[in-house]
Amino acid sequence: MCGIIGYCSKDTKASSVIFQDLKRMEYRGYDSSGIAMMSGGKLLIRKGIGKLDEVNRQYKLDKMPGQVGIGHTRWATHGGVTQPNTHPHTDCSGQIAVIHNGIIDNYQELRKDLIKRGHRFASETDTEVIPHKIEDEMKRGRTLQEAVIAIAPRLHGSYAFLAISTREPGKIVGTRKGSPLVVGLGDHKAFAASDSLALAGQINQLFPLGEGEVAVLSADKAVFYDSTGREIPKKAIKPDAVWSENDKGSYDYFMLKEIMEQPKSLVAAALQDKEIFTAVSLDILRAGQVIVTACGSSRYAALVGRYLFSSVGKKFCEVVMASEFQYFADSVNKNTLVLAISQSGETLDVIEGVELARQEGARIVSIINRPQSLLGELSHNVIYLNCGPEIGVAATKSFLNQLAVFYLLSFSMVHSFDMAVDNIRKVSRQVSKTIEWNGEEIARITEKYHQKNDFYYIARGINFAIASEGALKLKEISYIHAEGMPAGELKHGTLSLIEEGTPVLVICPGDYTYKETLSNAIEAKARGAQIIAVSDVNNEIYDHWIRLPKVHELLYPIVAAVPLQLLAYSMAIKRGHNPDMPRNLAKSVTVK
Ligand code: G6P
Repeated sequence: MCGIIGYCSKDTKASSVIFQDLKRMEYRGYDSSGIAMMSGGKLLIRKGIGKLDEVNRQYKLDKMPGQVGIGHTRWATHGGVTQPNTHPHTDCSGQIAVIHNGIIDNYQELRKDLIKRGHRFASETDTEVIPHKIEDEMKRGRTLQEAVIAIAPRLHGSYAFLAISTREPGKIVGTRKGSPLVVGLGDHKAFAASDSLALAGQINQLFPLGEGEVAVLSADKAVFYDSTGREIPKKAIKPDAVWSENDKGSYDYFMLKEIMEQPKSLVAAALQDKEIFTAVSLDILRAGQVIVTACGSSRYAALVGRYLFSSVGKKFCEVVMASEFQYFADSVNKNTLVLAISQSGETLDVIEGVELARQEGARIVSIINRPQSLLGELSHNVIYLNCGPEIGVAATKSFLNQLAVFYLLSFSMVHSFDMAVDNIRKVSRQVSKTIEWNGEEIARITEKYHQKNDFYYIARGINFAIASEGALKLKEISYIHAEGMPAGELKHGTLSLIEEGTPVLVICPGDYTYKETLSNAIEAKARGAQIIAVSDVNNEIYDHWIRLPKVHELLYPIVAAVPLQLLAYSMAIKRGHNPDMPRNLAKSVTVK
């Protein structure tokens, strides 16, 4: 949440570079944005509320003078979405500017103390304490770098922040704890950013910053320090080419591009190291207990994984919502294996759960998409999803690849990894068919139901979590209330909400769940529901049929998830919403 970028250059169009890089991080937050440039020894700040393009239209962020600057795109936590709360924030004199991602937990206490000592605050944010604290330190004669090192231990919580000062106009100083920050170097240019994706194509050396480390950037170099101020050597890694592909191509939205990419990205999910899968599946089988922890769509993928582990590997595991994990910490011990699932690898709830489990001696394996993530650093073993950058806020291809990884893991438990790889490759062709077959039907369904207020999604067994994921997709991007549940649960309460014309989406492939799910659909229909079925088998009770190809019963989740993504997308467009940037949400949730 929140994207930060710093750029030191000899480039006269530096603000336009900062603006473009912020655009690439807009998925991290898009309620307001701003840039501070160092120009002619003075600090120039422009900021405003709205999506980046709107702010730019009004304030011309990309036309600001100067060769050194910092930029921020915000997802509000402390303080509403207002101009004063928009970053960058400054000290009393307007000589120091700071941008920040994370939360300073003790900001109230720090703020009170600073106010008592005469500091004037312009915003309600937690961030603003940082420039004022730096101001204090610089008044005592410290350099910007020394000031940052001095105040960092007094900031509790999580942060990645960048600071500039008119006293040292050619420099940017940054540090991090709990929130991501990378440094990149190109020809006579140095960057710091929340995400290496922002720097794609502009750098040839990448340096992920460790916890508590400090980076001092100038146009030609970056120097690194530990938290005590001692200079440290740092090895560069080569930026990954796959992570440079981050444009929409011919699609109107990233989400549609990412849905359409799924047949290809599934094939990449199957490109895995057999040895790692063997080692992880042994870890799972040997563990006294296995807890899978995740949020949002990643958790729904874990719920499918749970069925696979049970049905193929005969291993029961529990799935715990990451935000609730801490409340189960009492039963975590050294015989526990925690499987953490996260596309971004930086979701704070997941990170905190994993930190807690590590303290209790648990073994940690994570399934991640983004390389160099915080979660990766905390894990004993990591499996990558290989789906490349996912920019749309609602997870699509990462979800499908998570399903594929769970499938591969479960078959590794029974020494059938190679066969499972083959099956994933084959099912990718069935995913293409699902996309080809259903465009018109999805358009008809959208036309007929886009003004409905409530949708219900039902399924059983391994497909139940796909009902929940389908409902989540619809809620997230089209703002229609939707609930997903096991079909058998409908009669225990929710059936009372079904009335004439209520759309009920039934995932009932011709597998072991078919008969009973169909009965539940008939019960709903008898109360007036419109049945939208997702199945390879047609039936006269359906009002609409989203056709699936016939696949093995453990692979239906993969093919059934895709038309539900397309339906949510189509509803969002019909209702006039931008599916890539749903209101109030962000892709990387780095707050609790
Ligand atoms: C946010 C996104 C969801 C995603 C969830 C978990 O809420 O909007 O699409 O599923 O975070 O993200 P993660 O990166 O941990 O998989």
